[in-house]
Amino acid sequence: MKLVVTGGAGFIGSNFIRHVLAAHADDSIVNLDKLTYAGNLKNLADVTDSPRYRFVHGDVCDAKMVRDVLRGADAVVNFAAESHVDRSLVEPDAFLRTDVFGVFTLLEAVRELSIPRLVHISTDEVYGSLATGSARESDPLRPSNPYSASKAGGDLLALAYWQTHRVPVVVTRSSNNFGPFQYPEKVIPLFITNALDDQPLPLYGDGRNVRDWLYVVDNCTALDLVLRKGKDGEVYNIGGGHEVENIVLTRDILRLTGKPETLIRPVKDRPGHDRRYSVDSKKVRQLGWTPKHPFGKALETTVAWFREHEAWWRPLKSGELKAWYRQQYENR
Ligand code: NAD
Ligand code: TYD
Repeated sequence: MKLVVTGGAGFIGSNFIRHVLAAHADDSIVNLDKLTYAGNLKNLADVTDSPRYRFVHGDVCDAKMVRDVLRGADAVVNFAAESHVDRSLVEPDAFLRTDVFGVFTLLEAVRELSIPRLVHISTDEVYGSLATGSARESDPLRPSNPYSASKAGGDLLALAYWQTHRVPVVVTRSSNNFGPFQYPEKVIPLFITNALDDQPLPLYGDGRNVRDWLYVVDNCTALDLVLRKGKDGEVYNIGGGHEVENIVLTRDILRLTGKPETLIRPVKDRPGHDRRYSVDSKKVRQLGWTPKHPFGKALETTVAWFREHEAWWRPLKSGELKAWYRQQYENR
């Protein structure tokens, strides 16, 4: 299969490219990525020389560029997005542009070129906060921050293109991912790297918010399955099945890094902070998916990866991210 992956230089996209190249010897991949602060070609250093992989620097909002890259593809998998909730609170423009207009540009190109499949990567955050129970794919979307609202826009637009134009889209809504190559602004890599440096771990609010953690490798196998076996016009939830309060997760990270709980620093809550996300993954499991990495072991592996890859994360933390945090905390 000739695949185009958009946003493949980020966290999940780079793990997905590595997975597909290893699992499918006949597949080739073109990776179209704008290389925002979150895009990093070092994430793909081990596959750069593969004859089955090619990188193209470009923006999913650039209609001409998108058409040129997509021509002749068998499928497109769209990871390209602005992905961090905290940034969407202060700089929402780029979220609307990429997470809505970028999806529109891809849909138009897929339609015009009659590409047989577009897998659009959405998120469980589009369902909004759930006090109890788990969201089914047919549940209404109630996003509550500019990130999740933008993602809901792209998600619904993709489904509308199926309804109106029969553009063959499949949408996935996964829970919070973690693992190697995650940008150290998201809570798990941020807390691991802060702990390794004996820096405080800024825990929002009362620390009792719940996320359902999914190891990125398990997400990649689910996405690969949905790409090949998913049904046009359908949505597939992908949940890790491990719901945990942030304070519990924080203690786990401190235990695994061998650091004291005195590093926990309660800080002012994130505005509009969703209390709990939870998805029902029955549908993707019926397609044949089972997560293979228990949370505890996967978190241990992730901590070990960050310990061993200081050269990857330290420049990120000392550059753009440091300036961004300084600005945020000055504003609080
Ligand atoms: P990320 O921020 O690590 O990577 C995003 C990638 O998209 C980067 O390589 C960036 O350069 C690229 N990009 C951004 N704007 C672009 C544009 N206009 N044109 C082309 N490329 C562009 O994100 P991630 O964590 O890997 O998430 C990937 C996708 O999965 C996103 O759509 C996100 O909403 C979704 N998702 C993420 C999680 C999670 O826990 N990380 C959970 C559910 C869904
Ligand atoms: P995050 O990794 O930003 O993912 P999302 O908000 O998309 O779920 O945050 C995960 C949880 O961790 C969320 O409840 C917010 C919390 N959090 C903190 O307590 N401190 C932090 O510094 C960050 C980044 C997140």
